[in-house]
Amino acid sequence: MNDFKYVNNELWCEEVPVAEIAQRVGTPFYLYSHRTLSRHFHVFDQAFEAVDHIICFSAKSNSNIAILRVFTRQGGGVDIVSGGELFRALKAGVDPKKVVYSGVGKRRDEIEYALREGILMFNVESSQELDDIHDCARNMGQKAGVALRVNPDVDAQTHPHISTGLKENKFGIDIERSLLEYRKANTLPYVDIMGVSCHIGSQVTKVSPFIDTMNRLKKLVHALREEGIQVRFLDLGGGLGITYDREEPPHPSEYAQAVIEAARDLHCTLIFEPGRVIVGNAGILVTKVLYTKSNEDKNFIVVDAGMNDLIRPGFYNAYHQIQPVVKGQREEIQVDVVGPICESSDYLAKERKLPLFDRSELMAVMSAGAYGFSMASNYNSRPKIAEVLVRDNRFHVIRRRETYTDLIRGEKIPAFLKRQNEKTVPS
Ligand code: LLP
Repeated sequence: MNDFKYVNNELWCEEVPVAEIAQRVGTPFYLYSHRTLSRHFHVFDQAFEAVDHIICFSAKSNSNIAILRVFTRQGGGVDIVSGGELFRALKAGVDPKKVVYSGVGKRRDEIEYALREGILMFNVESSQELDDIHDCARNMGQKAGVALRVNPDVDAQTHPHISTGLKENKFGIDIERSLLEYRKANTLPYVDIMGVSCHIGSQVTKVSPFIDTMNRLKKLVHALREEGIQVRFLDLGGGLGITYDREEPPHPSEYAQAVIEAARDLHCTLIFEPGRVIVGNAGILVTKVLYTKSNEDKNFIVVDAGMNDLIRPGFYNAYHQIQPVVKGQREEIQVDVVGPICESSDYLAKERKLPLFDRSELMAVMSAGAYGFSMASNYNSRPKIAEVLVRDNRFHVIRRRETYTDLIRGEKIPAFLKRQNEKTVPS
């Protein structure tokens, strides 16, 4: 459920007409509903009410500090994968004791930053990383909380690009080998073993892969406890899917019931790292039709948002519903919706039956709140677009549209290339 609704054939976000925002901020832009965001977080959190748990929102899905603030205000933690995400999470006001840090390639400066800030735990993805974390902690005279991110070799039954829990994926430590690594970690004086973590993939639309994973993790937890190794936290990662088209993913409460049942008797605090399920359907991309054209085989709608703004269709062939911002009675035709980027994979929809769009008309690309802006780039030197948050009957720009000057920030023409008497880069 979300708060993008038609009122008299016009798309509204909560109590604000989308067209009104477009007129004020220009196009394209990302638009989020505060009500949807906080309801989604609340529903997920409530689903685990019966057990000790922390919901660490996965910053990679949407890392705008205003969005992160929505969740930290509701008591949420943050799942990070870089120093940059830690910086954002802290700016958003997260309690560092609710930050978990995953990722296969943590650098020493990032590890030190996280130690300085006192995060809850590192989800360690290799033996060498464990050594580095221990070394950094020893140099800093403090202990590092760790969980080993185990790879349970479970098929998440999702798109191969976003499956992470199979042996063939680069993520985590083979669950079979992890006991050895735990034994090693247990001998390291500057490491505090906090628990076990994993993440099997994204856009998972069934409960069973999570439960298979839980059952494998349970065996590991029992084996660890038999050896006197403490396990206080069990981090099941993120991955719960959403409806983009016709998928029917489990409701968070269904997911929660099954997970709680599987985790019974473990006496662990459960950690979750949801991203998409919280923000995916709480955001849309609003774009404007620039041109339409046809050849013998195809019809094209050229819009002002491109793959640099939303890469999911071009990258994963992902489906996003396309809707007119103002509905009307009109003929439908089969079209490709394409952007201005010089790449054939620059499309938002392929061979889609859509109403005839006119030039300058506004178009809404739905379910774009997760992995939309956070994967945007400046390719083709296109300034990053604005992000807007609606709450009730007001809208707030939470990231201004970039300018051309933003594009060259940090770039420098070296002295040997300067024109005579040129002092600064022309801007
Ligand atoms: N935790 C870890 C360690 C992760 O790697 C991820 C996502 C999450 C949590 C959050 O997963 P979620 O609840 O959002 O499924 N760019 C792709 C998705 C990549 C997901 C990467 N990891 C897409 O646009 O579909």
